[in-house]
Amino acid sequence: MQVDVILGLQWGDEGKGKIVDYLADKYDIIARFQGGPNAGHTLYIDGVKHVLHTIPSGIFREGKINYIGNGVVIDPVTLLKEIENLEKQGIPVKERLIISKRANLILPTHKILDAASESSKGSSKIGSTLKGIGPTYMDKTGRNGLRVGDILEDDFIVKYELLKAKHLQLLQIYNFDYELSELEDSWFDAIEKLKEYKQVESVYFINEALKKGKKILAEGAQGSMLDIDFGTYPFVTSSNTISAAVCTGLGISPKHIGEVIGITKAYCTRVGSGPFPSELTDETGEKLRKEGAEFGATTGRPRRCGWIDLPALNYACLINGVTKLVITKADILNAFDEFGVCTHYKYDGKETKDLPYDMVNREIVPTNIFFKSWGTINPTGPISSELQDYVNYLETYLNTKVAMVSNGPGREQLIDLTEGKLLA
Ligand code: GDP
Ligand code: IMO
Ligand code: MG
Repeated sequence: MQVDVILGLQWGDEGKGKIVDYLADKYDIIARFQGGPNAGHTLYIDGVKHVLHTIPSGIFREGKINYIGNGVVIDPVTLLKEIENLEKQGIPVKERLIISKRANLILPTHKILDAASESSKGSSKIGSTLKGIGPTYMDKTGRNGLRVGDILEDDFIVKYELLKAKHLQLLQIYNFDYELSELEDSWFDAIEKLKEYKQVESVYFINEALKKGKKILAEGAQGSMLDIDFGTYPFVTSSNTISAAVCTGLGISPKHIGEVIGITKAYCTRVGSGPFPSELTDETGEKLRKEGAEFGATTGRPRRCGWIDLPALNYACLINGVTKLVITKADILNAFDEFGVCTHYKYDGKETKDLPYDMVNREIVPTNIFFKSWGTINPTGPISSELQDYVNYLETYLNTKVAMVSNGPGREQLIDLTEGKLLA
């Protein structure tokens, strides 16, 4: 059996959660493979808004396993809050959730270190969500991390104290005030409760599921332009967000990867600092933000807005091997008579579709062409000629088929251009 992948092709918040929730019905296991509570995936189910940070977006589907893979970093406090909120609404999380023992834990001191590091950067801040992501992945690759499986071992406290002591030493290099004891109390409370949730040895769990013919949907967090290797470094997150990370984040072989479904908004947003060549800092950008309700699901920060960036999307399609595209928020462009599409970048005296090695210290001027918007979208199709023109242009430019167009936040507000054959 194969593992299909859903991931973001821009700077995050493409609407991955909504698409995962919609498609989850066709799978047995929905698996997060990287990132942590820096993610915020918003779903509207029967008109009720839900925001998920660590729990996969298949949690609302009956009879499905939602798996947090080894590539994810977990803050027990946020995870437990999320679980309690869902359980209050009658979702039997304990029955549906499984966690890899190899997933690394975010400690209270990781969050403090994140905040101290950001505050020391002054005007060159990354714009981190301050959830402790960077310091936790640093400890993972530095071979100092604590993992979920450790919480059931006798020497857990010893390991915790050792790592905490390292962090307290590190914090001395920053001039940063912090209060640890309350954070620690709630962290240990959450650790106790986390012991009641099912933990597994990842490699056997996932490969046995594949062997039994279970269908797996891997859910990405963030977006390709935030990838630690290929994003707009250093304004990125601290994990690989691309399809290759499915293998390392779940413990499966590349031969199992099936469809790679890349999600892009019909325009583009970014939250936090860093390059964004097609950004609109004028009233048009403001209008996109207002119409698209572009405010971060994790931090509430206003998202920066601009036209869709095809050089960046093309780059993301290459890295991920995208087999199908999904365009979200097509309804938002109806607020404009016409809208822009960035087709090329101008920098270093040339016009090109290629991204430069360093996008930070270089002025990049976008070349835009304009399309007519399409008015109200008929949810049962056929799509209007204006929308079809836009879809055709993207397909030709990116050499990839558009499978679905999303035209509203609701679960069913989706136009399937493949007549149900997306996963065939
Ligand atoms: P994710 O992090 O990729 O899951 O995306 P977010 O949930 O952070 O941000 C996407 C936002 O757009 C959420 O508020 C969704 O409810 C909303 N959304 C998703 N698809 C559509 C769509 O087609 N139209 C509109 N208007 N909103 C959408
Ligand atoms: P989802 O899964 C949008 C951004 C932050 C910051 C940078 C580094 O909802 O698409 P970090 O907290 O990882 O150290 O922040 O990455 N960022 C996101 N932006 N959506 C996300 O997740 C993001 N996760 C991190 O704003 O610029
Ligand atoms: Mg989000």
